[in-house]
Amino acid sequence: DRQPIIAIDGPAGAGKSTVARQVAAQIGLVYLDTGAMYRAVTWLVLQQGIAIDDDCAIAQLASQCKIELTPSEDLQSPVRVWINDTDVTQAIRTIEVTSQVSAIAAQSAVRQALVKQQQSWGKKGGLVAEGRDIGSHVFPDAEIKIFLTASVSERARRRQQDFKKQGQPEVSLEQLERDIAERDWKDSTRKVSPLQKAPDAIEIQTDGLSVSEVAAQIVDYYHQRL
Ligand code: C5P
Repeated sequence: DRQPIIAIDGPAGAGKSTVARQVAAQIGLVYLDTGAMYRAVTWLVLQQGIAIDDDCAIAQLASQCKIELTPSEDLQSPVRVWINDTDVTQAIRTIEVTSQVSAIAAQSAVRQALVKQQQSWGKKGGLVAEGRDIGSHVFPDAEIKIFLTASVSERARRRQQDFKKQGQPEVSLEQLERDIAERDWKDSTRKVSPLQKAPDAIEIQTDGLSVSEVAAQIVDYYHQRL
């Protein structure tokens, strides 16, 4: 018998991370950021100078690396991430990693290795897992499945705010919109576990809603169901 699982999926910048962190804190569940894992592997590939299309070397790297995630105390901050004992919490959020991560995440051996890890962490349940394929593939039996969306322009605005808060160099809205649209396209057209709404997921369109409003909807829904 396992504890409940809440799966939160959706495209880049829909607010999954901040919403998932709040929901986890309010209900008392563990927060699992699966995107951080794909980012960490991407960082390692770039750091080791491995070519993005060297599937073999990347498959080996993904199956042998050790990833650790520690939710940060502060609800505003992203999860702390280590790969092979290097702290990459900040390094995985750069434009370089962000622009390459979808290509790495499309490789089936990478997905196999990371999904296996996620499922073993989730064996006992008790988590809010966030990503692209959580409700559809990683935890298809999750009690609650949420699909978060927002318009491309809204998502670009949010990303710009995030960068500002993190003290990263300013990026134009046009550039962010292009990047987001491109990542949407790559994530939803890839062959292995593309981004898609699970048939039994509830879709929440978040334009104009605050993080707390979206989190409250999910928490209410959880209490209704469980
Ligand atoms: O959520 P985040 O923007 O950190 O995710 C980074 C990338 O990792 C996504 O664009 C996607 O390519 C990949 N990803 C994935 N499956 C997940 C989570 C993230 O393919 N469950």
